[in-house]
Amino acid sequence: MRQGEPADQPVFPKWINQIRPLVGGALLLAPVYAIMLVWYGGSPKTTDIGYAPKQPVPYSHALHAGELGIDCRYCHSTVEIAARSAIPPTQTCMNCHKSIRATSTKLLPVRESYATGMPVPWVRVHDLPDFVYFNHSAHVTRGIGCVSCHGRVDKMDVITQVQPLSMGWCLDCHRRPEKNLRPVEYVTKMDWVPQEDQLTLGRRLKSSYNIKPSTDCSTCHR
Ligand code: HEC
Ligand code: HEC
Ligand code: HEC
Ligand code: HEC
Ligand code: HEC
Repeated sequence: MRQGEPADQPVFPKWINQIRPLVGGALLLAPVYAIMLVWYGGSPKTTDIGYAPKQPVPYSHALHAGELGIDCRYCHSTVEIAARSAIPPTQTCMNCHKSIRATSTKLLPVRESYATGMPVPWVRVHDLPDFVYFNHSAHVTRGIGCVSCHGRVDKMDVITQVQPLSMGWCLDCHRRPEKNLRPVEYVTKMDWVPQEDQLTLGRRLKSSYNIKPSTDCSTCHR
């Protein structure tokens, strides 16, 4: 691309600009580019399995989603309708914590947030690079459960990333979704297991739901 060209008239799509620092001259040299893709896509250095940052409140999914059995969608209310799965506002916590453990010091930041209107500063765990487009609703309304990508959240005191979130990982499922398909009514049920062979069920759901995950670059890079 010529230097100084306005950003809205790119020769390449806009997302390529954003990844230029990563791939450098590789885009000009197709074979080198292909090798880089495989290298970066498969290299553990680009993944964050095990990332579990400390949160401002010791909120436990094992307690709330596991023991208490609160459905994921009670808090992550946009997961079926939007690209992003919203982190709940403080009000959601206060529905219970106005009366339950109302004086607990562990909940001090929550009460402060409620009083001031400033959100609790939760630390992001899963975070794709900006040049990748992801959409929750496209997955959970098509029979991919939270557990396939986030693991047994109902057993985690602290949320931990369990999948690489690499391009190779996305593509592996887009090529063979039958390994992970389940009836849509069970997408938030962490301990659901198929009553029959997963591949048999997966193939059947794939055809009845008409599942055809795309592997076009523009699906995830737009
Ligand atoms: C009572 C509310 C509540 C329920 C129920 C709940 N969550 Fe959460 N979830 C939160 C809060 C608050 C955070 C942010 C703090 C954290 O990461 O622990 C969060 C964070 C997450 C994250 C990490 C987000 C990031 O930053 O990457 C994932 C993944 C997640 N929840 C999945 C689930 C799943 C799956 C379920 C159902 C099994 C569930 N949650 C049930 C409140 C809830
Ligand atoms: C449906 C009710 C409900 C909701 C909603 C809820 N909690 Fe809880 N929470 C509980 C119950 C019940 C306990 C366990 C109390 C006990 O051990 O006696 C608890 C315990 C806790 C504790 C441990 C308190 C202590 O002193 O040990 C923290 C921290 C906490 N919740 C944070 C949150 C946060 C943050 C949210 C919002 C994202 C939230 N909770 C939403 C019901 C709820
Ligand atoms: C196909 C894989 C996949 C499935 C299924 C999935 N997630 Fe996610 N989730 C991700 C990825 C990837 C991210 C990081 C998104 C980003 O950085 O743009 C994420 C991020 C999140 C976040 C942080 C906020 C956000 O949207 O970035 C929450 C909360 C979350 N997921 C909850 C859930 C819940 C609850 C379910 C099930 C109802 C679920 N996820 C199902 C892959 C998935
Ligand atoms: C466990 C399986 C699985 C994983 C992992 C997965 N996907 Fe998907 N994805 C699907 C399925 C199934 C669909 C729905 C296809 C359909 O509707 O025909 C889908 C659809 C999508 C769509 C919507 C496409 C459209 O046409 O609207 C996007 C965007 C997408 N995936 C991006 C990603 C990204 C980015 C990742 C990795 C971070 C990822 N997916 C990981 C299974 C998966
Ligand atoms: C299903 C989603 C998906 C599709 C389809 C997809 N990518 Fe990606 N791509 C990703 C994700 C996720 C990353 C970020 C990987 C990471 O952060 O480790 C990525 C990263 C990249 C990168 C940056 C280098 C790297 O690997 O980190 C390049 C270049 C790239 N993709 C090119 C392509 C090209 C060319 C195509 C079409 C042949 C394509 N992608 C199709 C999801 C996808």
